[in-house]
Amino acid sequence: MASITATTTFPLPFTRQLQFLSQRQGFFFTRFRNRVSCSSSLSLRQSCDSKCSTNDVISEQEQAIELKNDTQNNASSSKLVLVVGGSGGVGQLVVASLLQRSVKSRLILRNPEKATELFGEQDKEKLQVFKADTRKREDLDPSIFEGVTHVICCTGTTAFPSRRWDDDNTPERVDWVGVKNLVSALPSSVKRVVLVSSIGVTKFNELPWSIMNLFGVLKYKKMGEDFLRSSGLPFTIVRPGRLTDGPYTSYDLNTLLKATAGQRRAVLVGQGDKLVGEASRIVVAEACIQALDLEVTENQVYEVNSVEGEGPGNESMKWQELFEAAHSR
Ligand SMILES: NC(=O)c1ccc[n+]([C@@H]2O[C@H](COP(=O)([O-])OP(=O)(O)OC[C@H]3O[C@@H](n4cnc5c(N)ncnc54)[C@H](OP(=O)(O)O)[C@@H]3O)[C@@H](O)[C@H]2O)c1
Repeated sequence: MASITATTTFPLPFTRQLQFLSQRQGFFFTRFRNRVSCSSSLSLRQSCDSKCSTNDVISEQEQAIELKNDTQNNASSSKLVLVVGGSGGVGQLVVASLLQRSVKSRLILRNPEKATELFGEQDKEKLQVFKADTRKREDLDPSIFEGVTHVICCTGTTAFPSRRWDDDNTPERVDWVGVKNLVSALPSSVKRVVLVSSIGVTKFNELPWSIMNLFGVLKYKKMGEDFLRSSGLPFTIVRPGRLTDGPYTSYDLNTLLKATAGQRRAVLVGQGDKLVGEASRIVVAEACIQALDLEVTENQVYEVNSVEGEGPGNESMKWQELFEAAHSR
């Protein structure tokens, strides 16, 4: 087991990726602007002294968002999110977003060096990395879970034989055995376990899902889901459609994100395994993060797709509405 410590800088491309994600998701970098906090409302403007220039004035809307983000950050200080699969497509976006929100995270990776490659050197207070393979129960030492309040599991492998199956890293081993081992190792104190699964898991015997399931990926994902559901832990299962946007392995992450993520931000949430379509990994990562705190998502299973258009971004109220609306359909 290894922990990665260190300083604060992101590699440049990743910083750009975060900035882009932030703009995309509607975040403001007001915390870093170091501006005088004058309001544009009349009464407060009157109380500003004459040194307040127009540029110093922050709009009420921005202040409200800043306050909301501050509240979120304060609330998040007690949170420690274990991300399993943080080097993967959805996982790296989850970790990036948690870092951006100043939520402490801990990663389980087979190769901890990937964390530095992806996220740069990070303060151990913000990001801790443990080496573990979820297929191996003995790797999941209780020390990994100490202090963990929330979990997002986005592990996976290819549905069809590929080099990623080397060393028997097959859907059966990752999506079933790995998830089972992880869930079994979690302390009962965790407040939420979010598991990324897939649409179609309840229909793996039917065409066209049976083709995707030729090597069992949907069947094993469903078995993993069922194990979590019967564990007694508070859970949310997120079943995305075919994933788009990423994984981001290119060094020109910003261009890649701009090229592919711009349009597909409107979110469709369903229940009952009826949705068919695609989902941006950016949206799926955000759905997982939102599910950690929204009470309405506790012990629920959602299908998530995304289509062209404006989406909820990182606004919890909008996500809550989306999740709630899915319940009543
Ligand atoms: N691709 C699709 O269209 C699609 C559609 C629906 C659902 N999904 C599901 O959505 C989730 C996210 O997909 P993605 O494409 O973003 O993920 P991905 O890029 O395939 O990443 C998978 C992650 O799982 C980790 N992992 C694999 N085997 C592991 C093991 N034995 N122990 C610990 N970690 C292990 C990988 O780590 P390493 O770096 O060590 O390999 C990586 O971090 C997956 O569950 C996937 O099955 C995918």
